[in-house]
Amino acid sequence: MYKIALIPGDGTGPEVIREGLKVLKAIAQKKNIKYELVSYDLGGERYMKTGELLPDSVLNELRQFHAIYLGAIGHPEVKPGILEKGILLAMRFELDQYINLRPVKLLPGVETPLKDKGPADIDFVVVRENTEGLYTGSGGFLKKGTADEIAIQESINTRKGVERCVRFAFDFCRKRGKDKKLTFCGKTNVLTYAHDLWQRTFNSVAQEYPDIAPDYANVDAICMWMVKNPEWFDVIVTDNMFGDIITDLAAMIQGGVGVAAGGNINPQGVSMFEPMGGSAPKYTGQNVINPIAAIAALQMMLSFLGEDDAAGLVEKAIVKVVSTDMKSMAAGKMGYSTSQVGDLIADFVAKA
Ligand code: IPM
Ligand code: MN
Repeated sequence: MYKIALIPGDGTGPEVIREGLKVLKAIAQKKNIKYELVSYDLGGERYMKTGELLPDSVLNELRQFHAIYLGAIGHPEVKPGILEKGILLAMRFELDQYINLRPVKLLPGVETPLKDKGPADIDFVVVRENTEGLYTGSGGFLKKGTADEIAIQESINTRKGVERCVRFAFDFCRKRGKDKKLTFCGKTNVLTYAHDLWQRTFNSVAQEYPDIAPDYANVDAICMWMVKNPEWFDVIVTDNMFGDIITDLAAMIQGGVGVAAGGNINPQGVSMFEPMGGSAPKYTGQNVINPIAAIAALQMMLSFLGEDDAAGLVEKAIVKVVSTDMKSMAAGKMGYSTSQVGDLIADFVAKA
């Protein structure tokens, strides 16, 4: 019996989670999976009503689940940073979800802005460190608001934190068994402390994985290669900030945020799975947002729970629906409503 926490969150979050749950229900019936859902109303609305972000009591309850399924966090009426730091990043940090895993796969029938590139060319995974770097909130102001103001934002990189991330990436690359190539994406020519630590850690862990080809690319260059030669990449490992940036670029080449999903992974603890699209206030409540990313996040969750059969069938359903039914991955242009896309996937699963 899987205990799954739901955080539908803000904006279109609840709409896409609803479709994910439709698919979960269908797949559970099919594969005889038992689960229990508990929903939490974290997000902008609760914050505006009560001032609460992520109460300790909720956090402690979240520790008891097998997984967390998250819609979106972000509200147009709340100042940027409050909800992100107070809820999303707080969960990542407190639950020590030290990996942000972002599969970047162009599915057949999905349009990519890259000319002459297809599903055979765009199939890699980004392993982003998720608890350190520029995201720790370390730093501060001096003389704030004056002409002499100083702002410092420090990147924290620990040997332990870097090593566990790099090790996860090597293991993942080995298990994936595609090209057996792991690219460290950094900026060693400028970040001569932080990424020196990363490079040395990467090199020493690489010794334990003679079957994996170690590779390096500067972050700026990887943005060029990802557009020109995405087929070069198998698994990429990188720090928190660079990972944030390159995975948005990667989302676009795989067909946009309507299809991109990610996992915040604690291999020894509770992991959280989410679509990349955000709360999309512009589309909220219209039943036009693409739920595929949320369904792909569900697929990742099933896979991490060890339900590979179920995850495989959900993937098959996604491929079928995006390649033969949906007209576009963009909100409002799918040829179907949000709930109809969910129905198509759930029906495929039920009839499989
Ligand atoms: C992401 C998001 C978050 C991040 C924001 C919402 C804080 O962009 O998951 O990539 O920067 O990590
Ligand atoms: Mn991001």
